[in-house]
Amino acid sequence: MTGIAINPSILSADFSRLAEEIARIDTSDAIHVDVMDNHFVPNLTMGAPVVKAIRAATDKPLDIHLMIEDADRWAPDYADLGAESVTFHVEASGAPIRLARELRARGAEASMALKPATPIEPYMDMLTELDMVLLMTVEPGFGGQSFLDVVLPKIQRARKAIEDSGVPIALQVDGGVSADTIERAAEAGADVFVAGSAVYSAADPAKAIDELRELARTAQR
Ligand code: DX5
Ligand code: ZN
Repeated sequence: MTGIAINPSILSADFSRLAEEIARIDTSDAIHVDVMDNHFVPNLTMGAPVVKAIRAATDKPLDIHLMIEDADRWAPDYADLGAESVTFHVEASGAPIRLARELRARGAEASMALKPATPIEPYMDMLTELDMVLLMTVEPGFGGQSFLDVVLPKIQRARKAIEDSGVPIALQVDGGVSADTIERAAEAGADVFVAGSAVYSAADPAKAIDELRELARTAQR
């Protein structure tokens, strides 16, 4: 297993003060940026121009989560603007292996996301094309939803497939991750955790990140 990472989602930040909000989470491992297009999900957030501004505002690794249709067309742009990791949804990609290779060729880590009801089994043989798999633990589109325990068996199966592959692929969970749920996800095999509302609703977001990391580390042991 790889080390635990906590990647706060700035979806729960104050969008009018993004640079300051990013500075409040300096204990994070990366910044999770939710790009939504109002088609793949019923919500609209930001696109490449804003991500470019975020890139200029921080040296932290950017973990871009694209919840957009036609990922094959748009995802490579985010690698080009300097994101360390680009996640596309398999439900929105016509050629996920080609897209993963394209992202890596442009210097980003390639990551593939699955909605809660999308099975991992059809993709078991292509995991080695990826640096990370994201298993959504809420239906994508909004922050502040409840963690879906129904996804826990899929996390376990994905962890086993990653171990069997012999390649150190990260396993990210996103949605409803908090001090109440992170241990279950870590025990099931997740090692990268996105948390939006749990971090930004805390009085001290940087401290909340450290507490989440400690809970996950203890649960993983
Ligand atoms: C949901 C987004 C998440 C969201 C998580 O579609 O992908 O990253 O911001 O927010 P919380 O942690 O509040 O569930
Ligand atoms: Zn996300």
